[in-house]
Amino acid sequence: MNTKIAIVTGANSGMGLATSIELALQGYHVVMACRNEERGRIALDEAITATGSKQIELMKLDLGSLHSIRNFAAQFMDTHSKLDVLINNAGVVCLKREETSDGFEMTLGVNHLGHYLLTRLLIPALKAATQARVINVSSGAYKAGKIHLEDPNLTKRYNVIKSYSQSKLANIMFTRELAERLDGTNITVNALHPGAVGTNIGINRTTGFGTAIMAVVRKIPSFLTPEEGARTAIYLAIHPEVNGITGEYFYQQEIQELKPHAMDKSVSNFLWSWSAEQTGLPEELVK
Ligand SMILES: NC(=O)c1ccc[n+]([C@@H]2O[C@H](COP(=O)([O-])OP(=O)(O)OC[C@H]3O[C@@H](n4cnc5c(N)ncnc54)[C@H](OP(=O)(O)O)[C@@H]3O)[C@@H](O)[C@H]2O)c1
Repeated sequence: MNTKIAIVTGANSGMGLATSIELALQGYHVVMACRNEERGRIALDEAITATGSKQIELMKLDLGSLHSIRNFAAQFMDTHSKLDVLINNAGVVCLKREETSDGFEMTLGVNHLGHYLLTRLLIPALKAATQARVINVSSGAYKAGKIHLEDPNLTKRYNVIKSYSQSKLANIMFTRELAERLDGTNITVNALHPGAVGTNIGINRTTGFGTAIMAVVRKIPSFLTPEEGARTAIYLAIHPEVNGITGEYFYQQEIQELKPHAMDKSVSNFLWSWSAEQTGLPEELVK
């Protein structure tokens, strides 16, 4: 039996949970990577009940901590011989400026730097699969984004649009840089925009602030359900049509042309090198 193995980050809520359930239904062994033990357990039970699968497991991963990411990657590679699909789905929106435990601005730290480190640490496991796929859940918000080269951690003049759009542009630039560096290997890397989806995004997990707003948003007919929002990520994870396609940005299961600023090579190169330095990795990726 050569069961395919998938990791989904932020698997306890919204599209992460919907993606985990669908991949389990498709016969994947799913690792639900969650930062909070209790929320993770509840979601794991829900996924098992929804699928009847015995191949779903919960692992602790806080993308706001380099230590936690290193622990997760080491533990995963100790217990699994390969990784077929990595879905970098977790994401935060922070109304006020916050910092990760390593002192990075939270949105860039979790949405980009955490996934940057995680993906690079898992490359040996991805290489051990026959054909591996990395999927980065970005957003159309990248269009308003700019990488603030002088101040990526947004210590000055913080606002939520600036931080979120920067992090989602970083997802796309990371996708393109990683795809280029992995060209000719068994690993493809793509990014996507899921659409406007009624999830728990933006709700403060400690205070509950935002719950009422999101309850209203979920009722707006044009908003997708988490299951609908997860479709492009699942397509990129499992569909044979995507074999060999790499470095692209998808929406509604189709490649989208990127705005020119997202393809600025000097900025994406800077972001790659800066991210390596911040996460304690060598700049060069050993293929
Ligand atoms: N919803 C939309 O309209 C929309 C549109 C475009 C793009 N997106 C993107 O879609 C992705 C999924 O978001 P969603 O809408 O499904 O939101 P969600 O329901 O809020 O789910 C976000 C997930 O990320 C997890 N997470 C947050 N911080 C984390 C950390 N430090 N370490 C590990 N996991 C962490 C959350 O865990 P906790 O529950 O423990 O906090 C949760 O499981 C995000 O990348 C988001 O930017 C969403």
